[in-house]
Amino acid sequence: MKVKVSKSFLTNLSIVLFTVPVLVAAGYILTKGKSDFPQISESECLPTFRDGGGPYYLANAPFQTKIVPDENNGQKMIVQGYILDTSCSDPLANVVLDIWQANEEGEYEESYYRGQVKTDDNGYYEFETVAPKGYGEGTGYRPPHIHFKVHLNNHELVTSQMFFDDVRGRQGFNDEFIMQITEEDGIIFASHNIIVPDFEI
Ligand SMILES: [Fe+2]
Repeated sequence: MKVKVSKSFLTNLSIVLFTVPVLVAAGYILTKGKSDFPQISESECLPTFRDGGGPYYLANAPFQTKIVPDENNGQKMIVQGYILDTSCSDPLANVVLDIWQANEEGEYEESYYRGQVKTDDNGYYEFETVAPKGYGEGTGYRPPHIHFKVHLNNHELVTSQMFFDDVRGRQGFNDEFIMQITEEDGIIFASHNIIVPDFEI
């Protein structure tokens, strides 16, 4: 028995066969993007500590996601995370993360190692830098850290710092200050969520 298949049926079928995988793939890419909003349990929802900014802050740093100069020879570092409200259930979208840090020699500079980045719709931020070195001596020693402020419409919500694991357990360094670090091919990948205190959407 011969079954007749119309041309239009075949055309429609080919459109469906082509379109469905494309839509599924697009959906996968969209939902698996790095800016998926994080699910943070109540016990893990600990607000970022307010901390001093120190003497090296400069207002109006340039908006740039790479704050290290090209000729830098230090260890490359990608820092990323989310900025959330105090309840951890809402992202702070389109707020400004203002960062500044010492370079790989433990020195601050005017033009580099500082910058502002904006969060996306999910509160996600990311920037490229160099692993900072600690500075100061004796009791004035500062372990490696990255300073930051969060601004909403030019209003400062919080000032604090991110540290590496070497400060864990030391007096004055709560775990909420410490970045989660992995290393791959010589690049440090740091993750640090910022939970803004006293600010609920
Ligand atoms: Fe500092």
